Amino acid sequence: MTITTEEQLEKLKAIGRICAITRDAMASAMRPGMTTAELDEIGAKLLAEHGALSAPVVTYNFPGATCISVNEEIAHGIPGERVLREGDLVNIDVSAEKDGVFADCGSSYLLGEGDRRLVALCRDGKKAMWAGINAVKAGAPLADIGEAIGKFAKKGGYTLIRNLASHGVGDSLHDEPGEIATWPDKSERRRMTNGLVFTIEPFLSLGGKMADQKSDDDEWTLVARPSAPCVQYEHTVVATPRGAVVVTLAA
Ligand code: CO
Ligand code: CO
Repeated sequence: MTITTEEQLEKLKAIGRICAITRDAMASAMRPGMTTAELDEIGAKLLAEHGALSAPVVTYNFPGATCISVNEEIAHGIPGERVLREGDLVNIDVSAEKDGVFADCGSSYLLGEGDRRLVALCRDGKKAMWAGINAVKAGAPLADIGEAIGKFAKKGGYTLIRNLASHGVGDSLHDEPGEIATWPDKSERRRMTNGLVFTIEPFLSLGGKMADQKSDDDEWTLVARPSAPCVQYEHTVVATPRGAVVVTLAA
């Protein structure tokens, strides 16, 4: 989607806020002993209360209102009978549609007390996302985003998952201009056009380089190859001449 009217921007901000509120409410409700299906139920109710539809459901018939990925799972985890434990690394990704407009956001959380390396990974995963957001500017090369994130990851000794890209969003969940690398990509020649709406969602890892299907009987859930802890932080942004406008904010 490319924003051309104030009305479009208001609709995008409205659904962006609903996604953020839902993700935050799920994060604060998370408790050891709870199943991921119970956590998803909280998200499903909130989306419905706000008159929003789950984007993965309406777009891909995904078997859950939100994606919840635990530990070795890094993305597109299916909510189910898995029980959350103290110290788990949990990613909650919420994308939804209202009034024909889609937004998408995600965050990783350490449930309770956990490994110090994971605390640092969460902190730096957020910073990696902001390095990308701060590189957004209408007219600038789209490759600036992946360059900035790549530089940050390298400095910290982290790896980036290189087959899970950011993407256009707005008129649909996965919208024009298609995939946007959140890692350095020399072949990227496009520029950020004014009003372009897309996600910034690097997957920062302690060694993982690619995302693979978890098992043959689960077409959704992705794990890191080689297996390593991984976090994802995601916002939906609009490119403007003054930089990024972040629309997936709760307040
Ligand atoms: Co997402
Ligand atoms: Co996304």
